[in-house]
Amino acid sequence: MLSEIKSLAETLAPRLIEIRRHFHAYPELSGQEQQTAAYVAGVLSSSGLHVQESVGKTGIVGELTGKGEDSRLLAIRTDMDALPIQERTQLEFASHCPGVMHACGHDIHTTVGLGTAMVLSQLSEKLPGNLRFLFQPAEEIAQGASWMVQDGVMRDVSAIFGLHVFPSIPARTVGIRYGALTAAADDLEIFIQGESGHGARPHEAIDAIWIASQVITSLQQAISRTQNPLRPIVLSIGQISGGRAPNVIADQVRMAGTVRSLHPDTHANLPEWIEGIVANICQTYGAKYEMNYRRGVPSVQNDLYLTKLVEDSCRAAWGNEQVQLIAEASLGAEDFSLYLEHAPGTMFRLGVGFKDRPNHPLHHPQFEADEAAITTGVVTLAYSAYQYWQHPPHA
Ligand code: NI
Repeated sequence: MLSEIKSLAETLAPRLIEIRRHFHAYPELSGQEQQTAAYVAGVLSSSGLHVQESVGKTGIVGELTGKGEDSRLLAIRTDMDALPIQERTQLEFASHCPGVMHACGHDIHTTVGLGTAMVLSQLSEKLPGNLRFLFQPAEEIAQGASWMVQDGVMRDVSAIFGLHVFPSIPARTVGIRYGALTAAADDLEIFIQGESGHGARPHEAIDAIWIASQVITSLQQAISRTQNPLRPIVLSIGQISGGRAPNVIADQVRMAGTVRSLHPDTHANLPEWIEGIVANICQTYGAKYEMNYRRGVPSVQNDLYLTKLVEDSCRAAWGNEQVQLIAEASLGAEDFSLYLEHAPGTMFRLGVGFKDRPNHPLHHPQFEADEAAITTGVVTLAYSAYQYWQHPPHA
């Protein structure tokens, strides 16, 4: 099976590079992926998949029917949206859309998803179970997965695979991570209400700016003294405003930030823990406060069994040299985690780095990907999918 998958993927490679360059030249922002979605739907239909359009607003679902002796349904998710960045590469297929760029490699993801569907559609009589391909919109604004889930794409799904490109891993190499891959990312907003007064008579006022500074300092210190250092939290206040004049004590401050964490228990307790510190300080100095804590996407927690399955498939396909175990999670966020609330899954990192020149990071206007990665991604996903049904169900 592996050699059949590899030879089909190699035959398809020139066509997939063409598809990828088309996506790269015509990027679309989150929630506006109409042209990309129509293109995806066309390729899936002509490969014989059953296609549903406008799922999760601009998303696409493709169903591939296997032999049907195994009732487990496997989902493969890729994302389609680009970023509001002006491309500064010299590529001949650079973005035709001013201010919009595939700088996060979602053009590669979509292409790999299509390539996997094209390869497996030719081998469907050898697949014991059914496959559902999810082409998700709006990952960059952390909305698309929730739109897709609301439209029922996880119904009957027993496991899900995903991937993200990574420029610091060389092309033809796959990065495997057990456990936490990305962080939970929440939004925090705090208002502090003091009492205005003359700058020369602080004892007659309640200084909201000084109290805000105490809140920020205490939160940073409390992370180090009250939280398990092996379960990281990053709390960054990125906005602060308040005050009217240099000699007037401020009565109001608003601050807003992002809170990142990796461990689910830590994540669960964050709002209560933060509010406790804010409330104590405000009460001590006579201020009032209001706190808004908005849960963003949870942490991606890779299932151990499925991660091992993908790792073993990669080792079989590429040899040990081309498999990297990733030692550290990222504090970035990824809405793949929302699918994992409905079924276990795993996301791997697909190396797209060039070996012979410096690589720009994701979201950089000069980010480029080595297209050799497309075949690696297709074979990895297709062979892992096949292997999924060769193993007994896991608890
Ligand atoms: Ni991305």
